[in-house]
Amino acid sequence: MLEDTSFAIHPGKEQQSGAMVYRDIGRLLKYELIDSTYRFTCENGNVAIQFYTDSIVRVVMNQKEQPKLVGSRAVVAEPEKVSIEETVQDETLVISTANVELNITKDPFRLTILDHQGREIVAEGDRGMAYRENGEVVAFKIMHETDHFYGFGEKAGHLDKRGEAYEMWNSDVYAPHNPETNALYESIPYFMTLRDGKAHGVFFDNTYRSKFDMKSSDDCYTFSAEGGQLDYYVMAGPEPKTVLEQYTHITGRIPLPPKWSLGYHQSRYSYETEQEVRDLAKTFIEKDIPLDVIHLDIHYMNGYRVFTFDKERFPNPEKLVADLHEMGIRVVPIVDPGVKKDTEYPIYQEGVNQDQFCKYIEGDIYFGEVWPGISAFPDFTDEKVRKWWGEKHEFYTNMGIEGIWNDMNEPAVFNETKTMDVSVMHRNDGNPTTHRELHNVYGLLMGESTYEGMKEKLQGKRPFLLTRAGYAGVQRYASVWTGDNRSFWEHLQMSLPMVMNLGLSGVAFTGPDVGGFAHDTNAELLTRWTQVGAFTPFFRNHSAIGFRYQEPWQFGEKHEDIMKKYIQMRYEWMPQLYSLFYEASQKGLPVMRPLLMEYPEDVKTYNLNDQFMIGDNVVFAPILQPSVTDRAVYLPKGVWVEFSTGIVYEGEKTHLIHAELDELPIFVRKGTAIMQGEWNSNKDKRSNKVTMNVYAGVSGEKYRFTYYDDDGETFAYEDGQYLALDVEVTSTKQTVEIKVVDYKGDFKPAYQEINVNVIGLHEGQDVIINGEKQKTIKL
Ligand code: GLC
Repeated sequence: MLEDTSFAIHPGKEQQSGAMVYRDIGRLLKYELIDSTYRFTCENGNVAIQFYTDSIVRVVMNQKEQPKLVGSRAVVAEPEKVSIEETVQDETLVISTANVELNITKDPFRLTILDHQGREIVAEGDRGMAYRENGEVVAFKIMHETDHFYGFGEKAGHLDKRGEAYEMWNSDVYAPHNPETNALYESIPYFMTLRDGKAHGVFFDNTYRSKFDMKSSDDCYTFSAEGGQLDYYVMAGPEPKTVLEQYTHITGRIPLPPKWSLGYHQSRYSYETEQEVRDLAKTFIEKDIPLDVIHLDIHYMNGYRVFTFDKERFPNPEKLVADLHEMGIRVVPIVDPGVKKDTEYPIYQEGVNQDQFCKYIEGDIYFGEVWPGISAFPDFTDEKVRKWWGEKHEFYTNMGIEGIWNDMNEPAVFNETKTMDVSVMHRNDGNPTTHRELHNVYGLLMGESTYEGMKEKLQGKRPFLLTRAGYAGVQRYASVWTGDNRSFWEHLQMSLPMVMNLGLSGVAFTGPDVGGFAHDTNAELLTRWTQVGAFTPFFRNHSAIGFRYQEPWQFGEKHEDIMKKYIQMRYEWMPQLYSLFYEASQKGLPVMRPLLMEYPEDVKTYNLNDQFMIGDNVVFAPILQPSVTDRAVYLPKGVWVEFSTGIVYEGEKTHLIHAELDELPIFVRKGTAIMQGEWNSNKDKRSNKVTMNVYAGVSGEKYRFTYYDDDGETFAYEDGQYLALDVEVTSTKQTVEIKVVDYKGDFKPAYQEINVNVIGLHEGQDVIINGEKQKTIKL
């Protein structure tokens, strides 16, 4: 294509930018408070303001009619009863809750949200809320010199998004992801701003193609969309963690995943036959490399027809699934939305006969080309269709399958626009509207349909769902992998900020294709990537057709041994990871997080792209370049102990750390603790021994954390079958005291005690557990 050559920058081809002409919302004419909702009538449109909690404010501008306050696909919370105080003056109106103050000037209508210490959260200057005649809506907000931006879901580039502009339009991008790749598979129109150590969030709940611009101006940022209402939520924070709790209060949190889905996944586009899959599983068992899941990519199907198996390649899928299950391995098949146009294919027949597919307003089914050829697409915006599709998953659950992989659900279509015709008319649960409006939620709604269908069919077992596309709230149904990356060191590097920003966007269960999907990986890259993968929330090695196979043993024994060590480590860390997944399900906090989340006062963490934390007390500093065995590691406040060597490092300093190919630098903060299990075998992955590693401090540090466990695969925890220990560790010169301050739940794990192992005990320090000198915590 000419556009891929220098022709793209041919003189005279540049776009006429020109200032956009927006119509401002104008002067406030009148307002009223009805059922806790403020309704403002302005010269050029209407604004509604609602309070979801004392700290979450929703603002909706509609230039044509009264703002509509229902119908969001992302929001699951209802506004709470919030007590409000109102002060009216000539020029201004002040509305306060317990945590925030809204300052509204009347002419023109401008809104500033502050906290009660006078700290500005979001503010409008010369320009505020506006729109264009073509339906575009925009919010202009003041940008401060010290503002840093995070979140935005799945984006390429660095951690801090100041100076960047992004678009939200779910897109299938096989071309190499670059820092300039703008829209990827997920659209999460949400960000968190960190300003002088304090954080707040903004969620722009608009499903049209939308834009966030922190680049074009030095003192103002904007968010805008092609159509719909200017509908946004402001989360007052003030810490990064509270912002995320607030955002996930609005859009929901991840369900506790089945423990097996937190293990190691092996995938390939494709393992093409039953025999190949059996051989693969056998190799993992023989080599004692942990494996929980084998993914079946599109070749398992008969002509890529979903809900079928190719009987020649996979003559007995039931037996395959059962035999693998016996070995401790699960099968997760891919399910794409495209249903092959084939009048002899029952799913297609049913879809047409029962009117389940997306259609044009005139009544014709929309057809697009994907893997199976010409295909129809279920209209997931309709409850009836979601139920139908969900029900179909009986095909898989009847075979003993407990997890599904949804792909191509942007939806991707092989045409110029890469997707469905935007004029397709979705049913949208009784409020028909175009694909242009609902494109960004197609994947989310497919996820809802699949997750709910699987959940019902699995009768009490937790389903696992992996998705490529999604919108805000996707965390309620699915884990997200970051799509078609490549076997480049740059992509390993980029995966860290991408996964961290997804985590800051409420999606705690994420990870890239370890080793890289397209392009040929190599021994060193795969080894370093596997070290990182062992600690990303989702851990799957996946590679593309036509490129080198990249199972852990493909590059000789030396590399295999290292990868095995790290995959096993994943299982040794499982008690810690599972407790963090529990935290994610309770509070929305990410398992893998940027350092700024724990140290928002420390500017050195604001754009730290090549390090991450697991929970609040462990820093990882992987090697992300070829032939490198030394790197700078910044350790924040505290004293840090290197996990593998026990060497102590001072915080608020940068250290030069050595790490040979078999080493991943990990640092645990003194005065805290981590939970460790052990690797047994693929057949029996449960840890029979759980150890609490306590890193002794001396200076009065107090650390509190929750250790969580349950059966790992059912919903019995909802009926009290879980174990949640709130543990407090206090270190002084004389003692390291470990106390279970709260013990909840009725679950009795196979282990009857937790061993306590204190690391770096200082001379004369005693260990006291629950008030006594002992070595274990009895359960
Ligand atoms: C898409 C997916 C990739 C998958 C392939 C074939 O490219 O992103 O993971 O292997 O389709 O199904």
